[in-house]
Amino acid sequence: MSFYQTKSTIEEKDVAVLYFGPQKMHSFEITPKIMNKKGELVENVFQTTHGALKIASLIGKKYGSRVELSRGWGYILQPTPELWTETLPHRTQIIYTADCSLIVHLLNLIPGSVVVETGTGSGCLSHFLIRTIKPHGHLYTFDFHKQRVELATEEFSKHGLEKFVTVADRDVCREGFGDNLKLKADAILLDLPLPWLTIDHAVNTLKTSGGKLCSFSPCIEQVQQTCLKLEATGFVDINVYELLQKELTVVFKSIPKLDLECLKKQHTSDEVIKKKTTDEDRILTVNHSSTLPGHTGYLTVATLPPLFARIIPKNT
Ligand SMILES: C[S@@+](CC[C@H](N)C(=O)[O-])C[C@H]1O[C@@H](n2cnc3c(N)ncnc32)[C@H](O)[C@@H]1O
Repeated sequence: MSFYQTKSTIEEKDVAVLYFGPQKMHSFEITPKIMNKKGELVENVFQTTHGALKIASLIGKKYGSRVELSRGWGYILQPTPELWTETLPHRTQIIYTADCSLIVHLLNLIPGSVVVETGTGSGCLSHFLIRTIKPHGHLYTFDFHKQRVELATEEFSKHGLEKFVTVADRDVCREGFGDNLKLKADAILLDLPLPWLTIDHAVNTLKTSGGKLCSFSPCIEQVQQTCLKLEATGFVDINVYELLQKELTVVFKSIPKLDLECLKKQHTSDEVIKKKTTDEDRILTVNHSSTLPGHTGYLTVATLPPLFARIIPKNT
């Protein structure tokens, strides 16, 4: 039930995150005993570079507690979509936190929204979508890879999210999103190699009151095809975004302060700077990161206007 709502105490079957730092964390299920290779039930011990952790020792502890290991310590945290992104089992490429946040924003998602997503992949983006639309909204997520559908269904259920999501095995390019979703979706999110093949189906699935579509594509050629198809189908407000995250680190720096009185007495400038650099010269400023995380993908966003306002170009 770990993702369902905030809770204070760790219970058996929760999924928890062992957090050593932003670049170093692990997630696991709170299962006190596991089966070994010989088929015997043995104590579940999680190995880390900071030492071993008996999973049973976490039951009853408060989330947020400090956990001591033989060669270090960490915090035990309740998972969030952001922490899950850092620790989830990758079955496919995933969409990372920054793009997920922009998708939620660009699609105007709120609690109660009905969202269609394809492909489900590793279910990473799905966790962000579900957090935003629950408790009254619903996510319909499709993938044509049977095993990924099964694993995602199992994972959502372990995370206590099954009420908010329906996972289905379907080739959306060929079969669309299904008659039961006709004119029901507030928003559609595509993370597929050939997104333009789903746009005709999207028109039948989005609500007639201005539904939004967003397509995540790594390559600009995919964006071109998608935009052409969106325009030909009557979508408006077509915009493309590329999110490049630039991080500034907040630091204290000591800045040398010139003592002009000293200068007047004809000291060399080096002497002046040396003499007058004290703790009082420390200022709060920022360091620019020396590296910039690279391209992830383009987000193509468009709105389907109500039927009476839809203009379909004549040459299509
Ligand atoms: C990159 S992954 C999606 C990752 C997902 N957004 C996440 O954050 O975990 C793309 C998925 O689309 C699925 N897919 C590709 N073409 C499809 C189609 N025509 N119908 C349904 N699923 C499709 C693939 O099986 C794959 O799992």
